[in-house]
Amino acid sequence: TETSNARTRVSTSFRPIRCGPSQTRQKTSAPQNFPSYESLRQMYDPEVPEYFNFARDVLDAWEAKEKSGEKVQSTALWWVNEAGRQIKWSFEELGFHSRRLANVLSGECQLQRGDRVLLILPRIPEWWLVNVACLRTGTIVIPGTSQLTERDILHRLQVSKAKCVITDDSVAPMLDSVAPECSFLKSKLLVSGKKREGWRDFGELLRNHSCSHECVNTRSDEAMTIFFTSGTTGSPKMTQHSHCSFGIGLTVNGRYWLDLTEKDVLWNTSDTGWAKSAWSSVFAPWIQGACVFVNHMPRFDTSTVLKTLSSYPITTFCTAPTAYRMLVQEDISRYTFSNLQHCLCAGEPINPEVMEKWKQMTGLDIYEGYGQTETVLIAGTFKGMKIKPGSFGKPSPAYDVQLVDDLGNIVPQGKEGNIAIRVKPHKPFSLFTKYTDDAQRTADCYKGDFYLTGDKGVMDEEGYLWFVGRADDVILSAGYRIGPFEVENALIEHDAVAESAVVSSPDPLRGEVVKAFVVLTAEYKTRNKDELRAEIQKHVKKVTAPYKYPRKIEFVDHLPKTVSGKIRRVELRNKEWGKS
Ligand SMILES: *[C@@H]1O[C@H](CO)[C@@H](O)[C@H](O)[C@H]1NC(C)=O
Ligand SMILES: *[C@@H]1O[C@H](CO)[C@@H](O)[C@H](O)[C@H]1NC(C)=O
Repeated sequence: TETSNARTRVSTSFRPIRCGPSQTRQKTSAPQNFPSYESLRQMYDPEVPEYFNFARDVLDAWEAKEKSGEKVQSTALWWVNEAGRQIKWSFEELGFHSRRLANVLSGECQLQRGDRVLLILPRIPEWWLVNVACLRTGTIVIPGTSQLTERDILHRLQVSKAKCVITDDSVAPMLDSVAPECSFLKSKLLVSGKKREGWRDFGELLRNHSCSHECVNTRSDEAMTIFFTSGTTGSPKMTQHSHCSFGIGLTVNGRYWLDLTEKDVLWNTSDTGWAKSAWSSVFAPWIQGACVFVNHMPRFDTSTVLKTLSSYPITTFCTAPTAYRMLVQEDISRYTFSNLQHCLCAGEPINPEVMEKWKQMTGLDIYEGYGQTETVLIAGTFKGMKIKPGSFGKPSPAYDVQLVDDLGNIVPQGKEGNIAIRVKPHKPFSLFTKYTDDAQRTADCYKGDFYLTGDKGVMDEEGYLWFVGRADDVILSAGYRIGPFEVENALIEHDAVAESAVVSSPDPLRGEVVKAFVVLTAEYKTRNKDELRAEIQKHVKKVTAPYKYPRKIEFVDHLPKTVSGKIRRVELRNKEWGKS
């Protein structure tokens, strides 16, 4: 039966892509029924209508199915916090609250279709309501993390000319101090139990409004969201997506990579502020009618994660490689994950060593996904496909992915190149629209027939992609090109290494050399550092091409990371090179 063999449940019956309940699927327990990679590519044949609104065309359709009693599982959002509070919304409740909020946005906040709303909230249910209400009103949501500084906020407001901001007590004071410089800002909504001068009370407004609202009939190609993304240089850019690019395009994530159905409960530990949480926490699961699970952890804590996975019926789990590295260092034998079936990671490549340990501990593989704020899933490992540890899989059915040189010419197979997406003769609808107000930067990322991701990789003879690094992370030492990940993968195989970051460091002779910043595992913290350094260097020379070994090793207590847990190699590199 299905429950006795839950771990091998897979999907069948794919049809041409349509979002929402018009497209239903059953899972069976026969893994061989999962379509091959080649047929996935063939089956992916999305329909993009002229008008599309995710709230109306997908969420309201699930709501209708739920009301008719035909929906298998009717939780859209399941939120818990550390104090044991929980909130569960069905699609109907999500619809009810988000329509009231839509009335607030077009009522008190006087927002018109196309106006921009800055949203800075932690992982609380209101974050999801704002996302849906913006869809319903055709306003453009700009999500930002709670860790933004006053300067970041001012910059985002001034560049975006947002007319409304929605945030909580922790960020409101910063907003108040920059607001005098933002005359275009018309309304401020506070999610809080308290009153604050100059702010409207989110909860009170919501309670005061009717739950009937007619969704704006947005065009598929109309702007839906803007993410501020920082590059390695320059100020953050505004990456703009249309209603269809995520609303339809993320089917590739939800249906194929995550393999979600109405029965599934997806937990992604990533922060809402991080641009791409829309990927995982709104569109991909709700396209499939699955439940979004959220644990409002103030910070990533391994024992909370393990407890959560074992005490809630989470079927599908995604977290950053850093988090898996921490999890496999725990003794997880006292936990059972009886519902867990599918584990994924994104953001950075995962070390093969960590995948293997996770598999020993849970019996489950980790499926990798690779994408950018500008895109939906670019490549990944899909169920039913051989996993090659160290490779992030094959191109997603959404794109024709090739490795190209800096001019956009395809490089010979096996050679390093820029990871690129073909945009001619047709630009894929699930690629970002543009960098808002920056035609030059937009034009710069297209070369020949391709959009260049800015990442370097290699494609092998079976079409698997191997990540080399961000163009800037690649180390050039004595004529060799060395990607940080291959060195980090070798390092972590040594018992002393909990995690590491590899960057270039100046060297009078070689120009630059490989330097590793290493965080030691608990048992090795007190060992003699010089001996340990020599031992680790010897180990790397043994397991990978000797020229890649780190000539410099520095032991550190922790590595600099982004909010979403990505290692900030740029910070370490700048320090090495005396830049800041
Ligand atoms: C809610 O409605 C009541 C009654 O109409 C009104 O007095 C009150 O000011 C409203 N509150 C808000 C926040 O609009
Ligand atoms: C989890 O969230 C991160 C950041 O938003 C994203 O990159 C990743 O793809 C998400 N995972 C899934 C399974 O969607």
